[in-house]
Amino acid sequence: MFKLAVFVSGRGSNLKAIVSQIKSGNLTAEVAAVVSNKGNCGAIEFAKKENISAYVVSENKEGTKKTYKELLELFKQQNINLIVLAGFLKKIPNDFVKAFQDKIINIHPALLPSFSGKGMYGINVHRAVFNSSVKVSGATVHFVDEVYDNGKIIDQICINISDVNSPEEIAEKVLKAEHELLPRVISNFVHNKIKLKNNRVYLS
Ligand code: GAR
Repeated sequence: MFKLAVFVSGRGSNLKAIVSQIKSGNLTAEVAAVVSNKGNCGAIEFAKKENISAYVVSENKEGTKKTYKELLELFKQQNINLIVLAGFLKKIPNDFVKAFQDKIINIHPALLPSFSGKGMYGINVHRAVFNSSVKVSGATVHFVDEVYDNGKIIDQICINISDVNSPEEIAEKVLKAEHELLPRVISNFVHNKIKLKNNRVYLS
């Protein structure tokens, strides 16, 4: 079975979308671990309810929390195939990124490379999009490298926002797109369809 580790920081609607696609048979994968920087977020509660192993990560050794080094060992032992950042709002340390090169993906709630970088997460992104008056936004899934929101883009969904009246309205539309995009990209990994060639990512 293709094994996923999903990193989360908040309510976990993207995690739920992944689990829902697995349960309905559209995604042949297993969420083997959920990792958060927060012990009591909605996503962690959901993972526990679903009997998925849940871990809280911290940069330094602290109580029952796992360090990135410990997670790295664990994921290697468990043969985790893909690490999915689904609303994880901390930067992944470089050593960890290097150890799982081309095996970590992130979902971003805008059309990268616009509206990206430090501080650009959640509603902040949608506010910036709204205030810029761009007419399209969307969701992007990209590889994670050592720089925020910088890795190669794997797939995107574009939505028309020419008529929206608030950042919240954009957020709602984009979230729907995210729930479609992220399971789709994971499924393409499961079926080994994602290829890096000529400095670009192709679907084969
Ligand atoms: C999602 O919109 C995701 O794209 C965003 O956080 C939200 C998490 O929602 N991620 C970022 O902004 C990362 N830069 P969820 O917890 O309901 O999946």
